[in-house]
Amino acid sequence: MTPRFSIGLAVVSRKGMRLHHSGHPWIYRDDLALFEDVPTHVCELVDEHRRSLGYAASSSASKIALRFLGRESPGASVSEREAWFARCIDAAIEARRDLEAATDAYRVIASEGDGLPGLIVDRYADVLVLQALTPFVDTQLDLIVPRLVERFQPRMIVGRNDLRVRRMEGLSASVELLHGRRVASTVYRDDDLKFSVDPWSGQKTGAFLDQRVARQCVRRHAKGRVLDLFCYEGAFSFHARRGGADAVLAVDSSERAIAEVEAGIARNGLDGIEARRSKVAPLLQSLADEDERFDLVICDPPAFAKSKGDLQRATRGYTELHGRAMRVVAPGGSLVACSCSYALRDDAFGQLLATAARRVGRRFVDRGRLRVAQDHRVLLGHPEADYLKVHVLEAID
Ligand SMILES: C[S@@+](CC[C@H](N)C(=O)[O-])C[C@H]1O[C@@H](n2cnc3c(N)ncnc32)[C@H](O)[C@@H]1O
Repeated sequence: MTPRFSIGLAVVSRKGMRLHHSGHPWIYRDDLALFEDVPTHVCELVDEHRRSLGYAASSSASKIALRFLGRESPGASVSEREAWFARCIDAAIEARRDLEAATDAYRVIASEGDGLPGLIVDRYADVLVLQALTPFVDTQLDLIVPRLVERFQPRMIVGRNDLRVRRMEGLSASVELLHGRRVASTVYRDDDLKFSVDPWSGQKTGAFLDQRVARQCVRRHAKGRVLDLFCYEGAFSFHARRGGADAVLAVDSSERAIAEVEAGIARNGLDGIEARRSKVAPLLQSLADEDERFDLVICDPPAFAKSKGDLQRATRGYTELHGRAMRVVAPGGSLVACSCSYALRDDAFGQLLATAARRVGRRFVDRGRLRVAQDHRVLLGHPEADYLKVHVLEAID
């Protein structure tokens, strides 16, 4: 039985009000004049004159004390809250309707972007993967899961609660079956391609759904020889080949990723793709030494900066890596340069790409920035959610 709700009170200081007025959905503990957190993890927010600002999910352990839920209270009774979650979940599903013709794998609920801070739900065909990243969401799963079951009738829902951020919220790590019968993997459709996903232990919730926009861009522009660095399951490679590339070299250091690329080649009846297990840095060195050039290079490394403290080291790493990648781009060819470090701002990423180009004696035109896919809805005023930066650079000589 879900405990009856009691809603706490949080008085936001003037400093906290400045962040709140900017549209940011978070309020830090240091920016509260009073914080009456309660076991049920929802507070009414008021300013110093006790004017109501709305409601927020609260966390007693995290530095981020409150995450804005909106003007409307989730409700004190179970039935009110059930209806509140149903409305939020239904609205999130409705917002993704137009994606279903192209794919059955997408982010169904994107935390703050859907007014449900701390709740991530990804769909992979008949499987849902859920992450509960705040105490509010974690304690309300018995209202959330049944609504998801009603709407999707999934074969299984997996709780992938093995993220480090849960520790900062005072939550323990676990990976568990939340609904249905355990299946090891499922196959999902993306455009005319099929991918297999392991929702139990694949990276992120199983796949990198956030790169859909960049993959479509690669598919449109693919030609000649393509190099897909940090390829994971080969999604960029497959789209490039279907888009008209003659030959693709897909590279990842993970044995499991390379096995998955090979399985995907067979599943999709593809040819012209070589999957090679290697670390990227030495491979780029030997390609440059052998004067190999590619018409399109995709460079999508893991996050180098996990926090602001890592920025200096990460900037050096990204500059070195993208410089090496630039050296193997053919004249007139393109580099799709990516960073998923939220702590690295886009202007700083643009600057380090310019430095990298100068160092290796190449000139590029920036054809524009791409972002996380539309289903990873980013709330205006929430820069932390706008973490993915993809620049399409064209070599002019
Ligand atoms: C952000 S993911 C890439 C996602 C992929 N591009 C996609 O679209 O699905 C990063 C990948 O880099 C691989 N990786 C990490 N360090 C590496 C290294 N030094 N050399 C090659 N691959 C590496 C990981 O195994 C992981 O698959």
